[in-house]
Amino acid sequence: MASVEPNLPVDRVTVWRGDITDPPAELAVDAIVDAANESLHGGSGVDGAIHRAAGPRLLEHNRTLGGCPTGSAKLAPSFDLADRGIAHIVLTVGPVWHAGEHGEAQSLGNTHEDVLLANCYVQSLRLAEEAGARCVAFPAISTGVYGFPKDRAAKIALGHVLGHLGQHSLPERVVFCCFSEDDADLYRTLIDTRGKWLTSRRRVPPL
Ligand code: APR
Repeated sequence: MASVEPNLPVDRVTVWRGDITDPPAELAVDAIVDAANESLHGGSGVDGAIHRAAGPRLLEHNRTLGGCPTGSAKLAPSFDLADRGIAHIVLTVGPVWHAGEHGEAQSLGNTHEDVLLANCYVQSLRLAEEAGARCVAFPAISTGVYGFPKDRAAKIALGHVLGHLGQHSLPERVVFCCFSEDDADLYRTLIDTRGKWLTSRRRVPPL
């Protein structure tokens, strides 16, 4: 079994349990990712929390964007979140998990939802890099209302984030912001056991 690529920069990744709209100053988060819907007009979950914290100007801005297709990402200013050191909001739309048990039996990266979710991370990182963001916080995209299996989503997230960090200097760091301790433990365990599941980049969903 091919060993995990030695240069995956896990030292540039942090797992933090908390509210993505209120990261601790020591993390120096300057961009947060919103798990939105295709309208970009707000919703519940992390989308609702970010709209509440950023204020009504976020919705006004988003109304000028013409929506966002699933698997894509768009950029917004942070509006009222600037007071917390956050300069950018990356809007991305994760897939709804439709694949069911059949899909979960598929190897990682081989469902349509896997590829769409992978694209959320890749496109969000691309926009954050272009914006010059130094520390980007991601929620667990699609694992709430959209029902994506948490373990599968975390592996896709870690695989693509580590892949990006291994090839780019920006963002310097990525924070996986987990809303529950269980979710945080899942990410920590997957990072510690990456040699078992992230056996090669081929395991990371192709784009
Ligand atoms: N900070 C960090 N993570 C959060 C927060 C928060 N304030 N609130 C919720 N979460 C977590 C959830 O626990 C879950 O792990 O974010 C993850 C994603 O869950 P959702 O917010 O439900 O997002 P998603 O599953 O991608 O569904 C998107 O929900 O809110 C609507 O408009 C949104 O239609 C879209 C759909």
